Amino acid sequence: MNTVLFAIAAYLIGSISFAVVVSKAFGLSDPRTYGSKNPGATNVLRSGNKKAAALTLLGDGFKGWLAVWLTIRFGPQFGVGDTGVALATIAVFLGHLWPVFFRFVGGKGVATALGILLALNVWLGVATLVTWLVIAYAFRYSSLAALIASVFAPFYYGLLFGSADGILLAVLAMSALLVFRHRKNIANLLAGKESKIGSKKK
Ligand code: G3P
Repeated sequence: MNTVLFAIAAYLIGSISFAVVVSKAFGLSDPRTYGSKNPGATNVLRSGNKKAAALTLLGDGFKGWLAVWLTIRFGPQFGVGDTGVALATIAVFLGHLWPVFFRFVGGKGVATALGILLALNVWLGVATLVTWLVIAYAFRYSSLAALIASVFAPFYYGLLFGSADGILLAVLAMSALLVFRHRKNIANLLAGKESKIGSKKK
C-alpha cells in the first residue's frame, strides 16, 4: 500500500509542467502553442528567453530527482524498497508525459529523466548528461542528443550495478517512452527538417 502511495506522490510531482508554469510567470506565450508545441526546455528556448528555458530545465529535472530521492530516502521507513523506487521512477516520468494538472498534455521527458537518473545514482546521471552534451555540441540537435543519451542510460546502469533488477527495467521503460515521445523529432531528423538548438520559434 505504501509503495502505491509513494508512486501516486511521484506521479503528482511529475505532473507539474514547469514549461507552462515558468512561461506564465515570465509573461511568455504557452509553449504548447509555438515551435514544436512541446512543453519542455528546448521549446521554451525558442521563445528567446534563456532564463525561462534554464528554469524549465531545472524545474523539470528537480521534480524527477525529488520524487525518486524522497522514495529512496524515506521509503524504507514505510517498508518501501527497490520495487517502490522503480515504480516512483516510472510514475514521476509518466506524470511529466501525461500530467493530471494539464489535461494530460505533457513533455518528452528529457530533463525529468536526467533528474531521475541523478537521484538513482550520481554517476549514472553524470554519464548520461555527458553523453547528451557531447552529441548536442557535435550536432546541435537537442532531440538527437536526448535519443542517444536515453539509449545509453540502461547500459550505464548495467555497467554501474552489474545486475538486472526492477530499477533497470524502469530505466529501460523510461528510455522506450522517451524514444516514443520523440517520434516526430525522429521523422524530422530523417527528413532533415529538425530545428537546431537556439533557433527561434515559428
Ligand atoms: O526536450 C525535448 C527535446 O529533446 C526535443 O524538444 O521541442 O525540439 O521537440 P523539441
